[in-house]
Amino acid sequence: MTNDTAGDADARLDTCVAAAERGGALALDSFRSPLSVETKGGPMDSVTQVDRAVQEDVFDRIAEDYPDDPVVGEEADALKSVPEAGPAWVVDPIDGTNNYVAGNRNWVTSVACCVDGEPVAAANYAPATDDLYAAADTTTRNGEVATTSDRTDAASFLVNPIFGLSPAHRRGLTDVVDTVTSSFGDLRRLGSAQAALSGVAAGELEAAVSTVRLNDWDTVAGVHLVRSAGGAVTDVHGDRWTPGSEGLLASNDAAHHALVSAFDPRT
Ligand code: IPD
Ligand code: CA
Ligand code: CA
Repeated sequence: MTNDTAGDADARLDTCVAAAERGGALALDSFRSPLSVETKGGPMDSVTQVDRAVQEDVFDRIAEDYPDDPVVGEEADALKSVPEAGPAWVVDPIDGTNNYVAGNRNWVTSVACCVDGEPVAAANYAPATDDLYAAADTTTRNGEVATTSDRTDAASFLVNPIFGLSPAHRRGLTDVVDTVTSSFGDLRRLGSAQAALSGVAAGELEAAVSTVRLNDWDTVAGVHLVRSAGGAVTDVHGDRWTPGSEGLLASNDAAHHALVSAFDPRT
């Protein structure tokens, strides 16, 4: 961690929370009201004017506190991956846009801060349920300390696969669904990667898994929430996950080896 930013994770967390809550409230204003929905790559790849407006609002709020820091974000006019050196903010204005458009409550406004490529603070705010997941050194849910599930038996694990829409992602999802249903407890697909990772952090799910590379705005905040709640986050080979890793296995750490042996293509 660079010297000028070491030790100020709590201040960065305050900014994550303020930006996620303000952006999330803006999105909530238009939730379950008529929306103009555009598609980017296909019929399931949705974006609305609200996604863009919320990203801009979140960036503005970050800039109030850290005007010189670079910002990574899903929508236009932002970096698309976390730089290796220095501070950077990572924003998904609405993670779970298909849920948002359908009036389903599983979507979050996600804000994280990295220093030298490592997440140091994160907030995922789910406005429709008013749930705030936040972490610097420890994770909280709505202000109370949150920890990962204490289940140890992989056969009772609830596992959320995280995949996108490309043919490669669809093939990966099919394989993972098969493995989860045969080797673990049951499957959940919340439709928001950040909601799923928040759920792992707070013990609502035992694991969230992917065998493909995911976008930084879909992952970084949730990864930090899981780690600060006592969980483990690795790539598919069991090595420490960093932005850009191949795959992502996030769990309560109790049977992480079972996830690695189930999903590592080398085993
Ligand atoms: C999507 C959600 C979904 C995941 C997709 C993401 P968006 O984000 O996180 O759960 O499966 O890969 O693209 O488009 O709703 O922000
Ligand atoms: Ca997303
Ligand atoms: Ca999004």
